[in-house]
Amino acid sequence: MEAETPKAIFLKDYKPSGWLIDEVHLDIALDPTETRVRSRLQMRPNPARTGRRGPLVLDGESLTLDRVVLDGKELSGKSFSTDDNGLRIASPPDKPFTLEIETRCNPSANKALSGLYLSKGIYCTQCEAQGFRRITYFLDRPDVLAVYTVRIEADSKAAPVLLSNGNPVERGTLDRGHRHYAIWKDPHPKPSYLFALVGGLLGAITSTFKTKSGKKVDLSIYVEPGKEERCAWAMDCLKRSMRWDEERFGREYDLDVFNIVAVSDFNMGAMENKGLNIFNDRLILASATTATDGDYFNIDRVIAHEYFHNWTGDRITCRDWFQLCLKEGLTVFRDQLYSADHRAPAVQRIYDVRMLKARQFPEDAGPLAHPVRPDRFIEINNFYTSTVYEKGAELCRMVQTLLGEKLFRKGMDLYFERHDGEAATVEDFIQCFADVSGRDFKQFMTWYSQAGTPGLVCDLKYDADKRTADLTVEQVLLPTPGQSTKKPLQIPLKLGLLGGNGNDLPLETKGPTRIENGVLEITKRKETFRFVDIPSRPVPSLLRSFSAPVNLTIALSDDDLLFLMSHDSDAFNRWQAGQDYATRLLVASVKALRKDKAPPDPSRFIEALGEVASDEMLEPALRAQTLTLPSETDLARVIAKDIDPDAIHKARNTLRRKLAQNLGARLEAIYDDMAVKEPYAPVPEQIAHRALRNSVLGLLTARGTAADVARAAHHFSSASNLTDEIAGLSALSETRGSERKAAFERFYERWHDDHIVIDHWFLYQAAIPHPGTLATVKKLARHPLMSLENPNKVRTLIGAFAANPVAFNRPDGAGYEFVAERILQIDRFNPQLAARLLTAFRSWRTLESTRRKLAEKALKGIAKSKPLSRDVYEIVTRTLE
Ligand code: BES
Ligand code: ZN
Repeated sequence: MEAETPKAIFLKDYKPSGWLIDEVHLDIALDPTETRVRSRLQMRPNPARTGRRGPLVLDGESLTLDRVVLDGKELSGKSFSTDDNGLRIASPPDKPFTLEIETRCNPSANKALSGLYLSKGIYCTQCEAQGFRRITYFLDRPDVLAVYTVRIEADSKAAPVLLSNGNPVERGTLDRGHRHYAIWKDPHPKPSYLFALVGGLLGAITSTFKTKSGKKVDLSIYVEPGKEERCAWAMDCLKRSMRWDEERFGREYDLDVFNIVAVSDFNMGAMENKGLNIFNDRLILASATTATDGDYFNIDRVIAHEYFHNWTGDRITCRDWFQLCLKEGLTVFRDQLYSADHRAPAVQRIYDVRMLKARQFPEDAGPLAHPVRPDRFIEINNFYTSTVYEKGAELCRMVQTLLGEKLFRKGMDLYFERHDGEAATVEDFIQCFADVSGRDFKQFMTWYSQAGTPGLVCDLKYDADKRTADLTVEQVLLPTPGQSTKKPLQIPLKLGLLGGNGNDLPLETKGPTRIENGVLEITKRKETFRFVDIPSRPVPSLLRSFSAPVNLTIALSDDDLLFLMSHDSDAFNRWQAGQDYATRLLVASVKALRKDKAPPDPSRFIEALGEVASDEMLEPALRAQTLTLPSETDLARVIAKDIDPDAIHKARNTLRRKLAQNLGARLEAIYDDMAVKEPYAPVPEQIAHRALRNSVLGLLTARGTAADVARAAHHFSSASNLTDEIAGLSALSETRGSERKAAFERFYERWHDDHIVIDHWFLYQAAIPHPGTLATVKKLARHPLMSLENPNKVRTLIGAFAANPVAFNRPDGAGYEFVAERILQIDRFNPQLAARLLTAFRSWRTLESTRRKLAEKALKGIAKSKPLSRDVYEIVTRTLE
């Protein structure tokens, strides 16, 4: 907690460290309340640092210091000092030296889950971004790379498993077997944020992997004893990830062992510590009855992501935290490519874009907007954002779109070759692509420094006499906090022009314009491109595969959209046309509702949707995506101001009900057709069938006849896997009546002993779109299985509630008040979690005035509370600015 007003750190102030640390020896004696850490550092002045070096300041927080020894001599209290942020040694030698430091810390008191803490009796660490300083005094910055040797000592019974980074070197017993130790050495120099340690009573499954050059790697996944059988999928994912990185990027693993540990209390999803990844256990454990298809997919994706960091993050790390997208954006892009190789690429792209639009677009349009590479921060933990991650991934994807896959790979190879073992910058990364292609990326760099989602306003004019089509493209770049004027961007616009028969016309431009592989390069604020030899008025299909993270506008008629829905050769845009049509109808319905007017007639849309849904030539996964209407949050984003969440909910629900009423028989047929007869397996074909069937189930339940509710109840009670069980529960959660209550009770009875599965029970109650949900959530907040100290529980109850537009935005403000109180409560022990929850308020200014005032009141209440963590202070002040 901060006493003074926290200060921002700026990218422009970056300076290399005054000192370097070449080697670290840690000797850690684990104890629940008094863990002793002896650290021996081989240090030297940094030749790269010019000018005056001053005192040596090591970062450190919540530590008890016992001893400081410099070159073998214990320092007296006069030659060093400590405060809340670190240890200062007034005049260190101007040559290499050895510094030994002995400290203590208290893992069981650590509820911030940063540094060394206990999760259900298991010692574990989380050091990114700045947790290592809570374990020992150190130069806790990513550009200080050292080789670590770690000795861990602990009680033999309480902690039979002792793990750290790198390769195992030695183990032995002490104190007649009561205690024991293990020594680990990581030969790869790494920054402190990649350090990890685990100690505890854990079960494991093991396997091996042979790398492409024939090296054998021992793989282990450690979990709560008794849960080993639920690790098979995770192990499979790990091996596929290792193979994929070899085949797709030529990247081989580089240690003798790779360990994964699953823990229950974890602030994030997972962490890429070198050779010892630590995971939130919900992203490891899976079985047919305890994990949904979505869970299986997430496990695969996150294991791949953390594994891929071994090269993009660990071997090449970030010079400073402003460069976070260098590892996160790139690794998300890599995990997206991996996922796309495991299912239909268009389905994966739809998933990526849905996420981007649901999370990043609102961030970029609100008070928390920041560039992919921020230029300042108060608390770095607040910048693990959708912008850094997902927009960061889009920037990598645009580089690939501009260069083509082959040259992109060449650029990646050069990046690995040139910067292996270094702490790099975004400039270093982009320079590799400039060098392999001979192209200039100067304008492209603006994407990294300029916040906000560009608008791309397009217009197509056809001239029948000249047989030309003129496409005008204008960039609309609205101001964002701290950036009032904007520069035009370089935008790859992938497109097609559909002829009368629905086929793509050959694209020939006139003039100097380049068009390669259907990609037009936009560089100016406003530009017109002429396409020649166009026989009849074409229907434009713009931004195919979502080739750039922009907001596209083009005036298309309903007929054009229907034409694209059924003919576009780009599967992504075929889906997008359906979403655009739905959005158009829903936005008009919301307007009509608020003026007491009749909503537009959706029958042509419904008919077209019915065609797509029952088109057996189309992949079921795509059909399921088409049947999923834009979410209420998507609609709010498009409407953008004076938002009434109730009207949006009502409009969307009405359309869902009409859909089910008009397409009833067809949907019922799909429901029957898509039943999976084989035993459960998380394979693409089954997943797609379940996805389509379950989205149909949701629609049919929205129709609300007794038979519909009975179908959902039967679906729930007869389910043989969690995917179907949850689909039934979710469908029932929006009904009124005894079936819903019975299903939630049944689910609780069945799963209350499983801390992962039961989270669905909390979540689906918190997600019920009704003002009365607040009372339910308040009650659940006092449930014995609920704990604010566990981030999963907080996200699953409070987070889900704050993401429930109707309930959170109750017109009396009680939803805001409730969430604000929880934020303050959590901030006392876990600032990262509190700050993340607070981002639920980020779109408050777009609300209609009554709600806006109430949200503002809740935010101001937070802002004036004391004490506030730096994390919450930063988010609340930016949100109110
Ligand atoms: N390096 C992060 C985890 C992290 C972030 C730790 C911030 C501490 C602070 C990790 O690689 C990551 O990005 N994890 C994601 C999942 C991923 C698939 C996007 C997460 O934890 O949500
Ligand atoms: Zn990551």
